Amino acid sequence: MAVTIAPSILAADFAALGSACRALGEAGVDWVHVDVMDGHFVPNLTFGPPMVRALRPHIRGTMDVHLMIAPVEPLLPAFLEAGADIVTVHAEAGPHVHRNLRAIRAAGVRAGLAINPGTGLDALPWLLDDVDLLCVMTVNPGFGGQSLIPSAAAKIRAAAALCRPRGIPVMADGGVSAETARSLAAAGAEVLVAGSAVFAGPQERWGANIASLRRAAEDVAA
Ligand code: DX5
Ligand code: ZN
Repeated sequence: MAVTIAPSILAADFAALGSACRALGEAGVDWVHVDVMDGHFVPNLTFGPPMVRALRPHIRGTMDVHLMIAPVEPLLPAFLEAGADIVTVHAEAGPHVHRNLRAIRAAGVRAGLAINPGTGLDALPWLLDDVDLLCVMTVNPGFGGQSLIPSAAAKIRAAAALCRPRGIPVMADGGVSAETARSLAAAGAEVLVAGSAVFAGPQERWGANIASLRRAAEDVAA
């Protein structure tokens, strides 16, 4: 099984995001993860819809926008119009995750569902008909550069058992490194989000950083 590495630009230089996204494209990356934080659902603040729209032309392939915002409803239409291929909402962000997933698909965008480390998988059978990607948080959302939660691989395995038969890819988000990629891929993660492991060192290193993550993951996923 092929594993996709999705660099998170949360770890890039915010004063040079357009050029960072172009450099990723030149390095052969075809999926970029954009972490939207509201300073309320998570204790950090990043991008709004105009920023997502401005980045779109600089991203080759899939633009994956992870909304760590609550409530989601007031801002969802603006994010859906900003050009993302995938918009992901959190199960914990309000009482109407099912409605929000449907609104994403109705806008012609792929719908991602994210679950925090403390959230169980109980609701998945009732949501997966409306989901195109399951994002399992493998750190607590809000910051890059955190260590993988030890139970992450076991949760990915349980999530993949529910998602795989339906052809829904499972994403691991947070704490992905050349050391942890292997266990996450072995557990069934098909997309690995990586911020600090990709953007470590100067731009010339990013391609090699991505290659070593891919090698670590494909070692077991082949
Ligand atoms: C955490 C974000 C992650 C994060 C990953 O709230 O959703 O996407 O940026 O960063 P690293 O790879 O540094 O853990
Ligand atoms: Zn994320």
